[in-house]
Amino acid sequence: MEVVVASNTDELAARAADLVQAYLHSAPSPVLGLATGASVQPLYRELVRRHRVEALSFAATRAFLLDEYVGLDSDHPQLYSNVVRIDLTGQVDLDPVHLHSPDVRAADLDVECARYDRRIGRARIGLQMLGIGRNGHLAFNEPGSSFDSRTRVVSLTAMTRVDNARFFEHPDEVPRRAVTQGLGTIMETGHLMVMASGAGKAAAVSGAVLGPVTETLPASILQTHPRVTVILDPRAAGAIAADSRFRQVASRAG
Ligand code: GLP
Repeated sequence: MEVVVASNTDELAARAADLVQAYLHSAPSPVLGLATGASVQPLYRELVRRHRVEALSFAATRAFLLDEYVGLDSDHPQLYSNVVRIDLTGQVDLDPVHLHSPDVRAADLDVECARYDRRIGRARIGLQMLGIGRNGHLAFNEPGSSFDSRTRVVSLTAMTRVDNARFFEHPDEVPRRAVTQGLGTIMETGHLMVMASGAGKAAAVSGAVLGPVTETLPASILQTHPRVTVILDPRAAGAIAADSRFRQVASRAG
């Protein structure tokens, strides 16, 4: 696992964008996994900037959404497929037909989740962007999720609904259910890139990077993946910076 501590948000976004750019240039048919949330917004702004100013192209890229709320209207601004279209894919040259998300309005959501999971399996995501929840969730895999889990419908914890309420006009508007790629699905990605900012993420980051590998803290599964890059701001790295094991992780990266 490579752990990068950026000095500020701009550097965090630049380091993450460098990885995306290198991947897009190295793969003839890139397949990106797209996350949503505050952690990835600076990255998306930087990717849009590079598209406009430096001609970074997404024309050959296919993209798959990591997770999606269940129960929002199709034009709701917080439906994740709308969020990524507004923040990234609609602002670059990614063909809209190449942005894939689970159809959360499907009559049988379990069938739809299995279909989406198979489609991801066939496409083989090369680089997956990830945030991390304060409770250590990855995507919407809440604590207790099986490490073998596949794409499925889940219930959101009270903490996740409170944390995500900042994106909604009223806390009651935050959906209670979502579709998420499973931890087993995410682990099949070639390269996982995790971003976290702020002191509120420090404990979860510490557990993910240095803690025991346990389903109680889903992000700890990252320690078992062969290729993970964690990009943090100094406050998100606050609980690991003084730990001698972190220095080992960091030096392995170097
Ligand atoms: C949310 C999303 C995750 C996201 C994480 C962190 O609930 N479902 O995909 O990565 O939690 O969110 P944020 O970046 O806003 O802190």
